[in-house]
Amino acid sequence: MPSPDFHQLQSIDPAALADEARAGLLRPTASVSPKFFYDALGSRLFDAITELDEYYPTRTEAAIFAAHGAAMAKAVQARIGHGFSLVDLGAGDGAKAARLFPLLQPARYVAVDISVDHLRQSMQRLQREHPALPMVGVGLDFSQRLHLPATLCPGPALVFYPGSSIGNFDAEAAVRLLREARALSAGGALLIGVDLVKDQATLEVAYDDPLGVTAAFNLNLLRHLNRLIGSDFDARQWQHRARYDVAASRIEMHLLAREALSVRWPGGERAFAAGEAVHTENSYKWTLPAFDALLRDAGWRDPLHWTDQRQAFAVVLAS
Ligand code: AVJ
Repeated sequence: MPSPDFHQLQSIDPAALADEARAGLLRPTASVSPKFFYDALGSRLFDAITELDEYYPTRTEAAIFAAHGAAMAKAVQARIGHGFSLVDLGAGDGAKAARLFPLLQPARYVAVDISVDHLRQSMQRLQREHPALPMVGVGLDFSQRLHLPATLCPGPALVFYPGSSIGNFDAEAAVRLLREARALSAGGALLIGVDLVKDQATLEVAYDDPLGVTAAFNLNLLRHLNRLIGSDFDARQWQHRARYDVAASRIEMHLLAREALSVRWPGGERAFAAGEAVHTENSYKWTLPAFDALLRDAGWRDPLHWTDQRQAFAVVLAS
């Protein structure tokens, strides 16, 4: 029985993460990277979000793959032939990529996630279901820099970045990541999920749902910070807010102090006025022409789009 190969490319340094979190809290406008959402509970709360009626991106993207996966595979083959590596950015349990294995028939599956430990269990299961497919699990925080040694990813690659996670990056950081993806693809292609600009009400309820699941997801970040830096955030003193900034084409998530308060941790503290915010996430929404221009800036060519009937979400192939 073959088994996946695992590599942790960067050591995950809790001290560096704690420094980053403290520095964010001490900025004039406090802000913490959305990567701090995803502790064990945060990852489960995100999965719960994807079940909500109001959170359309995950199910809309799945419907686009279900309807057009065969056409996508044909287009990929026409552009890069057979024998490519499928590189899955932010693979998680690998389920989205695995649904495409029969269509894409990659020569190798390379799953990338921030921690290789997130990948082990699910990849061992995937390997049993696909015994002939060579698999590699790579631990890498590609939001810092996306680079893999050629030995892990030989030949051309189809870089797969579903879920509209590109939305967490502003245009400048998105271009940088997409350029790095192009270098990694070695003349291959990119298959990426993008959430599209739409009316404000639909966007805001997707990030502020009536059951409060997204509020719990946002507030859970405070628990995670308490564990990471030893702070004394009390989630009851904070309120979730999600607003769509039309001019910036982005959902902004904040946590607002319900009253004047101070947060303390070993070696520091931060006072918040009533209503003062910690910024926790930007989620950029794109129009297809604007996303095409972004791809072009990053050196990608010939974008092909598949969308749902409402044009809520798009999957884009570029070479
Ligand atoms: C995982 C970044 C795609 O922006 O929609 C969901 C995260 N935040 N609800 C998104 C998220 C609040 C999600 N991404």
